[in-house]
Amino acid sequence: MRMRKKKNGEKRIAACAAYLVSEPITSFAELFGNEREVHVEIGCGKGNFVCGMAEKYPEVNFLAVEKVSDVCCIALEKAKAALEASGTDNVRFYIADANSLCDIIPPHSVDCIYLNFSDPWPKKGHTKRRLTYRGFLEIYRKLLKEGGVLKLKTDNVGLFDFSLEEFEAEGLEFLMQTRDLHHSEYAEGNVMTEYEKNFSDKGMNICSAHVRFIKKENE
Ligand SMILES: C[S@@+](CC[C@H](N)C(=O)[O-])C[C@H]1O[C@@H](n2cnc3c(N)ncnc32)[C@H](O)[C@@H]1O
Repeated sequence: MRMRKKKNGEKRIAACAAYLVSEPITSFAELFGNEREVHVEIGCGKGNFVCGMAEKYPEVNFLAVEKVSDVCCIALEKAKAALEASGTDNVRFYIADANSLCDIIPPHSVDCIYLNFSDPWPKKGHTKRRLTYRGFLEIYRKLLKEGGVLKLKTDNVGLFDFSLEEFEAEGLEFLMQTRDLHHSEYAEGNVMTEYEKNFSDKGMNICSAHVRFIKKENE
């Protein structure tokens, strides 16, 4: 997601500091003040999905990760307004690249990870940058609890096919997959992202898969 540099970006982010994680998390229980499930969205963009999910599931804690600070600024401001209006406090943000998540999130502390409309990086030389590349799956395995789930949505068939291959190679258990989410049995209750709304308004199909991380034989 490209974006012109935000005026007063740092100040605006500082005004939302209460919702920003800037140091390694000792425990999610300490961060949120409760023992509820923790769901992490990687590449949250402008935050529509995490705000929608947090409102729909107040009993779940959400951490949204975004590497572009000016994009995260918009998500932070949106979440701050929504949380203050509703009196809930179940969302935090972390501005960083997904490849640094093991430095900030305690091992095996996450119940669910969402990858929504991740950049497809179609060139072969960029395979390792795809968020479903096996190197990233190894990171997610370290973050997720035993039996934790990864949920993927994308409009990009190339990325979807690649992801299914990587999931299979990693020995993940498939819970569901569809190449037309909005017209499938899994459509009910779906919370749309910014990109998802744009693509589906243009009549494009949305692909989705949910996979479970189970113990590897050598673990
Ligand atoms: C195509 S946009 C999708 C945004 C949003 N998830 C949606 O569905 O509307 C992908 C977002 O992921 C972020 N992103 C891409 N690679 C990332 C990474 N390695 N770590 C963290 N964020 C990343 C980008 O900055 C961008 O905001």
